[in-house]
Amino acid sequence: MVFGVILAGGIGSRMGNVEKPKQYMNIADKPIIIHTLEKFFINDKLEKLYVLCPKQWIHHTKDLVRKYIGNTDRIEVIQGGETRNETIMNAVGRIEQEYEVDDETIMVTHDSVRPFVTHRIIEENILYAQKYGACDTAVPATDTIVQSDDNKIISSVPDRSKMYQGQTPQTFGLKKWKELYLSLSEEEKEILTDAAKIFVLKGEKVYLVEGEVSNIKITYPYDLRVAETLIRENAKE
Ligand code: CTP
Repeated sequence: MVFGVILAGGIGSRMGNVEKPKQYMNIADKPIIIHTLEKFFINDKLEKLYVLCPKQWIHHTKDLVRKYIGNTDRIEVIQGGETRNETIMNAVGRIEQEYEVDDETIMVTHDSVRPFVTHRIIEENILYAQKYGACDTAVPATDTIVQSDDNKIISSVPDRSKMYQGQTPQTFGLKKWKELYLSLSEEEKEILTDAAKIFVLKGEKVYLVEGEVSNIKITYPYDLRVAETLIRENAKE
């Protein structure tokens, strides 16, 4: 079975002093989180979608789902965690409560603030995770990446042809992800903010799914303006 895990547990501090977390802000008169959910809802390979958000936003999120998508048992809104990975763990816990989890159980984890994910990307994530156990969506880096160990002086300039920019979805065998996450020390948990990095650190293979440059994450106010433009362009096509 394949589940969608939509991560909306953050507060969007880099968006600045706004009255609500960025996933609830509108683009083209619809909340970002709804644009994202719609992309997953139409994929019938996904048994159920879990939306994880801050506790005080659960009620509002349920209202939004009802208003824009309708009454459905295929979407469940639950509380997120302190960190992004803890949010994923909450989804794992809930899925285990509701279903018989086995080695074939897969979760497609996705940032609620990446509303431009495509059907092709979701499909390939499912396929790769079924075939290989874990995959991550990424695009080749366009800018040269420079590394600085002290944030002052460049320590290395890695070969750009080997550099990618990570996006989401990140898709994993649920049991394996849980096992690896629980094997981390508290220090490791603090460093390993990326869900796929846990696999890499533990020597597990994570396959690359080709992302799209347009699969942006809305982080700063500027990204909202880009998102508005992208939506308007998509509407013209
Ligand atoms: N996220 C989550 N649970 C957390 C933290 C983040 O589900 N405890 C989600 C966010 O809601 C977002 C995604 O992970 O959809 C990507 O994280 P990011 O863009 O960093 O979101 P925020 O943490 O909300 O933003 P900021 O870092 O600016 O506060």
